[in-house]
Amino acid sequence: MASMQGARVLVASNRGPVSYTVEEDGSLRTGRGGGGLVSGLSAIGPDAGSLWVCSALSDGDREAVRRGVGEDGVRMLDIPADVHADAYNGIANSVLWFVHHMLYQTPVEPVFDAEFRRQWASYEAYNRAFAEALAEEAAQRAAVLVQDYHLTLVPGLLRELRPDLHIGHFSHTPWAPPEYFGMLPDDIAGQVLRGMLGADRLGFLTHRWADAFTACCERFVGGLGDTRIGVHGLGADADFLRGRAREADVEERLLTLREEIGTAPDGTARRTVVRVDRTELSKNIVRGLLAYRQLLEDRPEWRERVVHLAFAYPSRQDLAVYREYTAEVRRVAEEINERYGTPGWRPVVLHVRDDFARSLAAYRLADVALVNPIRDGMNLVAKEIPILAEGGCALVLSREAGAHEELGEDAITVNPYDVVATARALHEALTTGPAERTEGAKRLTAAATALPPQKWFLDQLNALREES
Ligand code: G6P
Repeated sequence: MASMQGARVLVASNRGPVSYTVEEDGSLRTGRGGGGLVSGLSAIGPDAGSLWVCSALSDGDREAVRRGVGEDGVRMLDIPADVHADAYNGIANSVLWFVHHMLYQTPVEPVFDAEFRRQWASYEAYNRAFAEALAEEAAQRAAVLVQDYHLTLVPGLLRELRPDLHIGHFSHTPWAPPEYFGMLPDDIAGQVLRGMLGADRLGFLTHRWADAFTACCERFVGGLGDTRIGVHGLGADADFLRGRAREADVEERLLTLREEIGTAPDGTARRTVVRVDRTELSKNIVRGLLAYRQLLEDRPEWRERVVHLAFAYPSRQDLAVYREYTAEVRRVAEEINERYGTPGWRPVVLHVRDDFARSLAAYRLADVALVNPIRDGMNLVAKEIPILAEGGCALVLSREAGAHEELGEDAITVNPYDVVATARALHEALTTGPAERTEGAKRLTAAATALPPQKWFLDQLNALREES
């Protein structure tokens, strides 16, 4: 809880650690988020005077702010819904996310028109609201850790308001190379980079993304100036995962999944290929399904003997392109089941309702983990599955995932666009022997847990305090 003198460590992010839903009887239900940042911040302890500034995202959140309901150590900003929608859906998720993940179909998009300029003004207002709240809440020389592409302008704006603060910014996404970043209008590109450079220190998940940012600064704003760059490859929280995966609800899901997987006609256990993602364009779920279909086509010996557990949880459904992608994922999964399925075998078990306990149950059952994004800041699923897979597992991993920098040596690497090669990689992964799989998973686990969230957070905090 922030004291009267102000908070000494502040985190700012669009999505906060709590969310609220209005129940039918009018009461508010509180939901708590997990994730690296939540466990990271917990490392500084309850007396550290920490404050998490985040945005109200739903009607429930806005209602909570209005009623003065909240959590100690969290301040939710009630930014007008239309301003937030323009900033979050319009700029952050449709422009900046697309730029950094290189998702545009460039012959027809992006189009930076008057509507974009209008939305940009909302993005500025939304960033300003964060900067003002942080300036108001922070103690003298406090450390402020700003998160992600939603808040690129905050460091610069906050620096003007409070030159005494230690300001850090961390990017959880990739950073686009200059040729792609340069699609942004010149003034906007400059504003984003200068906004970020208002920080004392910028953090990235891999060297590749840090180098791309540096190259953008050299190309568009004459270099980094006094801002320093750090690379902190967030790892998985093994203790939390192992504990959570033993709870009763996970055991229950395990039984249901085993039924859905079934047994091969010769009585042996079926192999599993597991993927768990938000239904996100960058995750490449459709090509993953096409690769699995190719495997069944090229290697008929796997028919009846393997099941693909594909969990694709809804994400950013306000955006039409995400809704269409979700529909395409369903269509391709159904098509595979119709073409290859038999009365006793459903080749793809697709689940689209978010259920963390079921994800953990699937991790425990994984023989093969499929993580094939076309571009990804890190990808924690690639780190989490090997920790929990009970018989060890082989990892098919895209070379475009940040996690590849750390796990590449012990994974089967794929070019995410190459469906035929991904099918071959799945075959290779499925034929990995049990001893090799167990050894592989051990090495993957060691690499995946090298920088647990608590240390990841403290390293950044200490570097920020010492270096500025
Ligand atoms: C990525 C971003 C996060 C974001 C998360 C979920 O991991 O780096 O900032 O919170 O996706 O996306 P959402 O739009 O649902 O917050």
